[in-house]
Amino acid sequence: MKDKIIIITGASDGIGRAAATNLKSSGANIVITGRSKEKTKAVADELKVPYYIADFSRLDEVRQLGSNLKNDYSTIDVLANNAGGIMGSERILTNDGYDRTIQVNHLAGFLLTNMLIDTLCASRASVINTSSAAQQFSGDIDVNDLKMEKGYSRMGTYGKSKLMNVLFTKELNRRFHSQGISAVAFHPGVVRTNFGEEFGGSTKFLYSSPIKYVLKTPEKGADTLIWLATTEPGKDWTPGEYYSNRRIKRPNKQAEDSQNAMTLWEASLKATGLS
Ligand SMILES: NC(=O)c1ccc[n+]([C@@H]2O[C@H](COP(=O)([O-])OP(=O)(O)OC[C@H]3O[C@@H](n4cnc5c(N)ncnc54)[C@H](OP(=O)(O)O)[C@@H]3O)[C@@H](O)[C@H]2O)c1
Repeated sequence: MKDKIIIITGASDGIGRAAATNLKSSGANIVITGRSKEKTKAVADELKVPYYIADFSRLDEVRQLGSNLKNDYSTIDVLANNAGGIMGSERILTNDGYDRTIQVNHLAGFLLTNMLIDTLCASRASVINTSSAAQQFSGDIDVNDLKMEKGYSRMGTYGKSKLMNVLFTKELNRRFHSQGISAVAFHPGVVRTNFGEEFGGSTKFLYSSPIKYVLKTPEKGADTLIWLATTEPGKDWTPGEYYSNRRIKRPNKQAEDSQNAMTLWEASLKATGLS
């Protein structure tokens, strides 16, 4: 892993932090991003790695992050789009006008990846997207409904955002694999992190009650991400697929619909001002 440049978003805590710690110890050059300056700086200081701050519920901050990373790194071997989580029980629109869960979990990573696309292609990079088994329970998705106008529920919208991670992965791979990018999505397992903590509800109960001790540790939850980042696409894993526990898993059948993937890509280009 020596000399490899690995950027991990959402590495101030949980799965991203555990992945950054492990990959740093294997000799890779790790770059982390987080939302909280205090938490992100503390992790960066501990690991002795560079850090960047951006709140993904603000697309201007994601644009600034993309621009800074593009200027600072001429090579990126791995981009792990990992930042995200479950949001509140009320639908909230961001200042950019999109549902907050959809923006933080999908649109921000979409924008960041596209801003770095030339570097990622030239570096023959792996793009690893942290999805979730919750994508299986998304209900029917309308990939044009990035504001969740057709009905918001906390878990339904979270599931849809994680289904979008799989659709994005498939379309990114379809469009850019021949130009060098290998994209993959994975489910980390049910992992004992701060996940859901900020917004309360049943997820908070599961993740903060004594039940949490039966959940995976962040180190175990990071295992598939670390494996994907340190192995060879095309040889050890198949680009365009969705993994769980280092194995290909069939996602929600709506993720296999290539028209959904193309339509989501176009809608996301428009939403992020890239088209
Ligand atoms: N834990 C699970 O059981 C589980 C299961 C399936 C999938 N996942 C997925 O795994 C990923 C990591 O979650 P985790 O479990 O490690 O949770 P976590 O401990 O809460 O970590 C979440 C990370 O995402 C960052 N983040 C959250 N909101 C953000 C925002 N608005 N802008 C920028 N960064 C933001 C956080 O930054 P700050 O700490 O700086 O705020 C933190 O670094 C998420 O995509 C989640 O959906 C988790």
